[in-house]
Amino acid sequence: MTLANNTSTDGTALRIGLFGFGCVGQGLYDVLRRTPGLRAQVARICVKDRSKPRTLPLGMFTYDRGEILGDDTINVVVELIDDANAAFDIVSSALRAGKAVVSANKRMIAERFDDLLAIQNETGSPFLYEASVCGSIPIIRNLEEYYDNDLLDGLEGIVNGTTNFILTRVSDGEGAYEGALASAQRLGFAESDPTLDVEGYDAVFKTVILAAHGFGVVVKPGNIVRRGITTVSSFDAAVAKRHGYTIKLVSSARLADGEVSASVLPTFVRDESPLASVRDEYNAVSLHAAFSDAQLMVGKGAGGHPTASAVLSDIAALRYAYRYEYKKIAQGLRPRFSQRVPIKIYARSSRRDLLEQIPWSTIEIEHRSPDGSYVIGTTVLDELSASEAFRSDETFIAKVV
Ligand code: HSE
Repeated sequence: MTLANNTSTDGTALRIGLFGFGCVGQGLYDVLRRTPGLRAQVARICVKDRSKPRTLPLGMFTYDRGEILGDDTINVVVELIDDANAAFDIVSSALRAGKAVVSANKRMIAERFDDLLAIQNETGSPFLYEASVCGSIPIIRNLEEYYDNDLLDGLEGIVNGTTNFILTRVSDGEGAYEGALASAQRLGFAESDPTLDVEGYDAVFKTVILAAHGFGVVVKPGNIVRRGITTVSSFDAAVAKRHGYTIKLVSSARLADGEVSASVLPTFVRDESPLASVRDEYNAVSLHAAFSDAQLMVGKGAGGHPTASAVLSDIAALRYAYRYEYKKIAQGLRPRFSQRVPIKIYARSSRRDLLEQIPWSTIEIEHRSPDGSYVIGTTVLDELSASEAFRSDETFIAKVV
């Protein structure tokens, strides 16, 4: 009995095996309860921690993944756990068992993209993961369906809610980074290991997924130039403000002359640009295409209910046997990946030697004061990422757009 037969011909309810019952898992349970029209029910929930108090009867839970993976009455697996390796085992076993799979695990998807493509080709089972990028914003399906042609040439966005929440507070002058991070953790936006958020890794995973669906290029996360926001200071926020900018952590991927470049960098975005007004845990993706120019999608990028809404939409899409066709990859365009692109940056440090080591092509502003020294100028992305200044905790570096 295939899922398509099971759902489209006899209207049988989708029976879901859920892995993980954290913020998003509980959000999904609640969202499903409030959307009875979908006729989808959680049959079993597999969790790791036996000692955690649960909000549902204990009979719903199992600690043995085989009880879901081996249950032929369960036709959909929803994977919402933290551990990327365990998630890959669950997802690949479920697909091989002929179940449809919905996941929000950006790390697993980014790190195992090629393996997951191969398993989907081998099994023909649908694997959907809209919730893995930008929470509630339907970006992957838009890239797959609307931008299935070759007009898209750039996307840039705020794809991490935790860092946007922190930067909003730092830019507002509302106190410390640490307090803002603690609030983001309390509100359920941050990863269990928030280093993934603040160092930009989470945004890198999402950028890998966006680049694959947007441009047909499958990049290893380690090849995306990354810097987080851990060294941002109120001095940087004040400099940005004085020059008419707001600091955001921006993920970007661009296609030019058959080559794709991608980065996750703190960025001075112009105050009048739509990204500047995206606050708190909101995410946004700005898509640039020939003829249509720029388009912006904005929505909540983190939190139980917003993320669960994207999971729900994927579950609903299984009703009509929707699956990603990876159209850009299938078209065989396979653009080259190259980080040899010019970039304008702001670099601040109390160490002049670090600023001087940056391979500047041009310098526009050089500022020295007891409060902080900075340079605004242009360089080349791959040379910048190889410099000591880029890797140092004693600098703050932001792209300027
Ligand atoms: N920690 C992630 C964020 C959760 O803050 O965006 C959503 O992917």
